[in-house]
Amino acid sequence: MNAKRRPLIAGNWKMHHGGMSGIELAAGCVKISNHTPHVDLVIAPPYTALAAAAHGCDGSPVAIAAQNIHAKDSGAYTGEISASMLVEAGCKWVIVGHSERRQYYGENFQIVHDKTCAAIDSGLRPIVCVGETLEEREAGKTLEIVKREVVAVLPVLAKSTIPVAIAYEPVWAIGTGKNAQPSDAEEVHAAIRNWLAAASEEFAERTRILYGGSLKPENAESLLSCANVDGGLIGGASLDAKSFGAIATVAERLTAS
Ligand code: 13P
Repeated sequence: MNAKRRPLIAGNWKMHHGGMSGIELAAGCVKISNHTPHVDLVIAPPYTALAAAAHGCDGSPVAIAAQNIHAKDSGAYTGEISASMLVEAGCKWVIVGHSERRQYYGENFQIVHDKTCAAIDSGLRPIVCVGETLEEREAGKTLEIVKREVVAVLPVLAKSTIPVAIAYEPVWAIGTGKNAQPSDAEEVHAAIRNWLAAASEEFAERTRILYGGSLKPENAESLLSCANVDGGLIGGASLDAKSFGAIATVAERLTAS
């Protein structure tokens, strides 16, 4: 982490806690925020729990994110949810281009680009996810792949007047228990910051780059200590207030030190 940027700890609940348990978990996250005043906390419940979680977090520093968005603002798109609806439900952030969406729902560069535009146009802060597969890493293509994903959204992100974030999530580290080594994560994060700087130095300095992929209390300190890791996008360990709180507490401690 770097004192210039406030840490951002975000929980991506994926397809978990869509009902009452989500409301309880959101309440647990509000309690965490009482002890982590220097950390931005964001939770991304499933659609069905968004409004209730937003209500539960109202008046607290915990912000709500959606996990997905549709690029169009309204129309005959059965089953889809638009940016303005997310804003209405109480969202401040939205995750865009998660590898699970790229992999299972065919989200290509254009779709990720259009969704990012739709979010920013409605005042929703995007967390754009990028990352390589194991095959790509083993072929030595990590930086090439990640650069392509970043460059595809860079013009949109760089001209945004609202904060945006990038999450580096190596696909092979997601849900596997195998996190990236801090030095490997730092290498990619530093490269991402350099690519952002090509658009604007000031933009690169202020934009938070999160790490995601088996981030948990046991490895939080080593990953969050990296100079260009400004927080985390956490899946499994965000499903429980205790482990999510433990990660947020590490970020709080590192900020204070
Ligand atoms: P895990 O923390 O479960 O590996 O998931 C990471 C992730 O995909 C967050 O978006």
